[in-house]
Amino acid sequence: MANSKKVLLTGGAGYIGSHTAVELIQQGFDVVVLDDFSRSEKRMVDGIERITGRKVVCYQGSCTDEKFLDTVFSKENFDSVIHFAAYKSVNESVQQPLLYYQNNVGSMTALLKAMEKFHVNEIIFSSSCTVYGEPDRIPVDESAPFKKAESPYGATKQMCERILEDCIQANQPLRSVSLRYFNPVGAHPSALIGELPIGTPSNLVPYVTQTAAGIRQKLTVFGNDYNTPDGSCMRDFIHVVDLAKAHVMALQKVVALENRNEVFNLGTGIGVTVLDLVKRFIKTTGIPLNYEVGPRRAGDVEKIYADPAKAANILGWRTQLSLEDSLLHAWQWEKQIRGIK
Ligand code: WQD
Repeated sequence: MANSKKVLLTGGAGYIGSHTAVELIQQGFDVVVLDDFSRSEKRMVDGIERITGRKVVCYQGSCTDEKFLDTVFSKENFDSVIHFAAYKSVNESVQQPLLYYQNNVGSMTALLKAMEKFHVNEIIFSSSCTVYGEPDRIPVDESAPFKKAESPYGATKQMCERILEDCIQANQPLRSVSLRYFNPVGAHPSALIGELPIGTPSNLVPYVTQTAAGIRQKLTVFGNDYNTPDGSCMRDFIHVVDLAKAHVMALQKVVALENRNEVFNLGTGIGVTVLDLVKRFIKTTGIPLNYEVGPRRAGDVEKIYADPAKAANILGWRTQLSLEDSLLHAWQWEKQIRGIK
């Protein structure tokens, strides 16, 4: 269905942002990217253009910069915003909490001020299952309470959801949808966009593919003494293209949602252990992986996976891609950026 809606993607050159830009453009949306390129690269915008065959308008600058946002909003007449711009490393946030509060919370408040000033009333927010901490019940549905965040990163996601709630309570004409991602993995099947490796990856799948590519000597599985079938942690690994499609559906539905401040869990609903993922990577790609089990990582949640029923019932969204698709696409992307045949 063609949409002439103009959508701003803050952090649109990032991992989830770039994949969402592709899906939006392919659905006929008019996409504008805003990114400071501190954690992303221009080549991701090139990748979006190559996949879609469309030129993408891109503004370089920080989402915390109110003057910069005013310039962009005065030039472009946005209908909606999808807010991806944020730092996302759990351990970096523990080392540098102020950097995370300044950037992640500061960008949300600056953005909402610009939206109010220019009468843009729809926002889709990139949130995270990390807001739940270690859940009491799994699978996790949206009624699960926020626990004390395990990291400043998680705390910024909780705060941003609260800021949206308070702005809507203050009777602003705002409508918001917070999308709580579980574990985004994989890459676009074209291998033209994917998760950019900046520094040593803290996330599992980039570390797996870099080990497979010989960039890393060995993968360490952080603990196998958890209360799970094989002792390693359990997660809900969702293909980034499935995740991107959920943003399109949320954008199409946001104006009609009963609740002006809605939240959805975005996961497959299937729990997979770390060791199981490693074994399925080896089976799917045929690449022998050098790994060993090491000590637990501080702050890791033992088990978490989504109950995705609400997104299915209200958005009509369901995941289509498998863990094998995610692992294969992640590996194809790794080979592409490393020039491996
Ligand atoms: C997954 C599992 C590790 C690396 C965090 C954020 C979440 C989202 C994704 C941004 C854990 C294990 C990992 C390694 C390992 N952030 N692991 N060896 O911590 O579930 O979620 O990142 O979008 O909001 O909370 O993801 O990929 O870091 O870890 O054994 O080298 O893999 O212990 O059990 P996590 P992760």
